[in-house]
Amino acid sequence: MINVLVTGAGGFIGKNLIDRLHKEKGVSVKQYHRGDDPSLLYRHLNESDIIYHLAGVNRPQRNAEFARINSGLTELIVNYLRENQKTPKIVFSSSTQAAFDTPYGLSKKAAEEALKNYSNETGAEVYIFRLPGVFGKWCKPHYNSVVATFCHEISHDNEIEIHDANKTLELVYIDDVVDNFIDCLTRKKTEEKFYYHISQIFHTTVGELARQLYEIKGTRKSLIIPDMSDKLTKYLYTTYLSYLDENNFSYDLPVYQDERGSLVELIKSHQAGQVFISTSRKGVIRGNHYHHTKVEKFCVIKGAATIKLRKINSDELITYTVSDQNIQIVDIPPGFTHSIENVTDGEMIVLFWANELFDQDNPDTFPLKVQQIKDDEKKG
Ligand SMILES: NC(=O)c1ccc[n+]([C@@H]2O[C@H](COP(=O)([O-])OP(=O)(O)OC[C@H]3O[C@@H](n4cnc5c(N)ncnc54)[C@H](OP(=O)(O)O)[C@@H]3O)[C@@H](O)[C@H]2O)c1
Repeated sequence: MINVLVTGAGGFIGKNLIDRLHKEKGVSVKQYHRGDDPSLLYRHLNESDIIYHLAGVNRPQRNAEFARINSGLTELIVNYLRENQKTPKIVFSSSTQAAFDTPYGLSKKAAEEALKNYSNETGAEVYIFRLPGVFGKWCKPHYNSVVATFCHEISHDNEIEIHDANKTLELVYIDDVVDNFIDCLTRKKTEEKFYYHISQIFHTTVGELARQLYEIKGTRKSLIIPDMSDKLTKYLYTTYLSYLDENNFSYDLPVYQDERGSLVELIKSHQAGQVFISTSRKGVIRGNHYHHTKVEKFCVIKGAATIKLRKINSDELITYTVSDQNIQIVDIPPGFTHSIENVTDGEMIVLFWANELFDQDNPDTFPLKVQQIKDDEKKG
């Protein structure tokens, strides 16, 4: 069993870390929060194999709080451990600001020094992470994170203030921080060093951050989800959603209706095409067209359909009967004219995926009846 203590457990990084620690096998987690009795801290310190020391202040009401909490609490912890001959491993969330002579930076630097002395004197392992801006779910807005503040304000339709759009930002994502912290649980030090880095660091500017977040907000209207293969974009998207008000998780979509039924576009992506659904009344036949490059997947999710395909220069008719009783996808290859007919008494709902976005100016859609040849023969 690894006994873990997390100080500052109720904060942004603390909450995310604790959730992950609870999922680790053979780990017992104790928490220390602001306002807890110091005797509780001492009891936990006696039992801990590793301490994640996250308790700290970034923007206290009085400057004296920096020294009292950031360095003072750290000194209290290492002094107690030293006096009681305990040598747990300590992982400390310092800040890139520790390189600067600000009250916050100086207090973090002093905490680092206290930890390094403790390690040098006792042989205990100390891992110091000088974190840049951390972003992700559960970070308080209007505190220590421009990402949190922008996400909150933009998602609540408030104006954001940008003083210098070109100001560069160094960011790390909360799950990466947690991953790196979790690695320390079992890590054995092989080098004489104190400082460690988060494995993935992102660089952007204040202006670009705002632009991306407004674009993310706009996805509910454009339906175009951002390029999730870009990690920063993916993490900003997920972070933005975590700031939505609970009554703002849903949004309406335009419904295009005609005599056949309705069509609703759900999600579009410049990288991955689009997803849409259609409803069709009894007996309705959709399609009777082909594409050169566009390919589609048809999936009947309510009702039953006959999907017919014919290679455009062939007479051979291919028929698939599909229904909600056995959910299947039917691929529509290029160069095959195709149709889908509702063969149930009620409404049919079909989920579609197309590999490209619908382009009004170049629809790549050519009308051609699937059963034209047979029909013409019948007429004759
Ligand atoms: N998030 C970042 O971008 C970032 C970057 C660099 C470094 N860091 C450092 O990483 C640590 C965690 O950051 P965070 O973003 O999770 O901040 P946070 O949300 O403010 O969490 C810090 C936690 O420490 C608690 N705390 C304050 N004084 C305490 C005390 N005397 N005893 C016990 N707990 C105390 C706070 O309680 P209250 O909620 O009651 O104040 C809060 O729950 C901090 O030390 C911070 O300086 C964070």
